Amino acid sequence: MTLATAPREQRRGVIERYREFLPVSAATPIISLGEGNTPLIPCPKLSAQVGRGCEVFVKYEGLNPTCSFKDRGMTVAVSKAVERGMQAVVCASTGNTSASAAAYAARAGIRCAVILPAGKIASGKMVQAYAYGARVVAIEGNFDDALRVVRELGKRPEFAVVNSINPDRIAGQKSAAFEIVEELGDAPDLHLLPVGNAGNITAYWAGYREYLAAEKASKLPAMLGFQAAGSAPIFHGKTIEQPETIASAIRIGNPASWDLAKAALRDSGGAIDIVTDDEILEAQRWLAGHEGIFVEPASAASIAGLFKCCDTGRASALRTRGIEDGSQIVCTVTGHGLKDPDAVRFTTESSVRPSEAEVLRAIGF
Ligand code: F0G
Repeated sequence: MTLATAPREQRRGVIERYREFLPVSAATPIISLGEGNTPLIPCPKLSAQVGRGCEVFVKYEGLNPTCSFKDRGMTVAVSKAVERGMQAVVCASTGNTSASAAAYAARAGIRCAVILPAGKIASGKMVQAYAYGARVVAIEGNFDDALRVVRELGKRPEFAVVNSINPDRIAGQKSAAFEIVEELGDAPDLHLLPVGNAGNITAYWAGYREYLAAEKASKLPAMLGFQAAGSAPIFHGKTIEQPETIASAIRIGNPASWDLAKAALRDSGGAIDIVTDDEILEAQRWLAGHEGIFVEPASAASIAGLFKCCDTGRASALRTRGIEDGSQIVCTVTGHGLKDPDAVRFTTESSVRPSEAEVLRAIGF
């Protein structure tokens, strides 16, 4: 890449950059918002928390066009839907899939319907669905109920389902693993990420394996998934009828890609673990306050998971598995903090008169 072409290169989306690894042809129209190419941020303070010469990087997926990782898969799913002549996409969502589907459908000029659990969507995501012009339907039930309805709708010829049960979504989301390998020069030793419907862990694992097969990487990472303690079906090995967590994005009791996620965990020598809501919020605060990276609560599950793994007093997925000295560790943070502003607790000070003395006193140093 020359300096002159660099900015343009960065604007190219997932389909243009990874065409040979995706189910697209010359006949596929490209519906893109320049997704992907998100920063892999070295985190010295997080590395120090792990210690023993380990290096931690955060893959900041909140910097995608609709501020979550979903855009990587949505560019492929919507492009393929348009190629097939579909006039409408539909999805169930905890908020980010719906925001992304709505944006890409708007870009494509087709209709979008999003089926959401009533009262359980973070405000930033809700605003996005309306802003992009989606038809929003709130159901009296949770995400799992919404996905059941969407599977039914998908049997009708008029709707393309763009949840991660659509393999085009998983195909696009693999691109995050490709970018990590390209940037590090190889796969990391460990990859930590939050798990909800389990599509993303499935996608990363597929991406790492494809890059190994293509000899772009020489090894595979161990995949470590983290569920919220109140919504942890894979960890407990049973569906959860009433999942609960502050991390509304991963409030899911019956993940669609359960079996594929289990295969990724097993084949990578990884593990699944849980983090509590308090741990999630603490990790969210810590990452923003120490590394300058503001993420939504679900995204902080990977960071909370890393802290849990480093807590010598507690059993955890990583400690059980063992973390080797000098490991390269990547944590995916899946969505931007502004998606869910209500999750951040703060007190505002009362205002002061506009004088230097008063402002200095208010600053307190
Ligand atoms: N993090 C965020 C911010 C999410 O929005 C999701 C899933 C996940 C993690 C979990 O990823 O489902 O592939 O295991 N959100 C979906 C949605 C369910 O509807 O937006 P997963």
